[in-house]
Amino acid sequence: MRLAVNIDHFATLREARRAAEPEPALAALLAEQAGARGIVCHIRGDRRHITERDLRVLRQVVKTKLNVEMAATGEMKAVALEIRPDVVSLVPERPEELTTEGGLKVVANRKVLGPHVEALRQAGIRTSIFIDTSLDEIKAAREIGVDLIEINTGLYADLKEGAERQKALEAVRAAAEFGHTIGLEVHGGHGLDYRNVGPIVAIPEMAELSIGFAIVARAAVVGIERAVLDMLALLA
Ligand code: PXP
Repeated sequence: MRLAVNIDHFATLREARRAAEPEPALAALLAEQAGARGIVCHIRGDRRHITERDLRVLRQVVKTKLNVEMAATGEMKAVALEIRPDVVSLVPERPEELTTEGGLKVVANRKVLGPHVEALRQAGIRTSIFIDTSLDEIKAAREIGVDLIEINTGLYADLKEGAERQKALEAVRAAAEFGHTIGLEVHGGHGLDYRNVGPIVAIPEMAELSIGFAIVARAAVVGIERAVLDMLALLA
């Protein structure tokens, strides 16, 4: 199971003081050095953490795989075509939200998403869609030509241990199995931490997990290398 580290919140800390530190690219390099197989960041419409400048620097220095999350807008398509990340992850975005709140609705938006994915594909950029566990949504993602899906683990992660959480886990498992069966590479992410990641790691079709907040929070206390190594031990 590969670990991709989302470094947004190093930039959040920097922006709290509109300062030059901490440098998200430095965190990215140290995460890679500790064994991360990819670096993820989210450029938001309001640029609350990651900026174009960060993307340019990251594009130059990231040696594993740069995955940039963004909304499926014209503005963001231009950013993608300039930066050329290895993967663009399309996510829904509400300006008021603290973090991404759910998967993208592919069935309802396929007329917009289809051409968007095609434009990125023609530029040689792999595309991912952040998606809830609905099999119809996953089928639609396959039909519009994405290379991979990232299944939203947020519902599972937010629940306490018990029957509801087990149900949410089963939904993630079924979605991963279905996505894999129809030829998609399957990733997972959102809300995963050192305590809840185990059952997700046990899903055989999951090729990669994207984890941000929990790793940055631990890194603030013990350092990014230790925080990445601790998570890798749980993914092994
Ligand atoms: N995947 C997606 C699509 C996200 O938007 C985020 C949060 O930016 C993550 C994964 C990582 O979530 P977390 O920070 O809770 O680990």
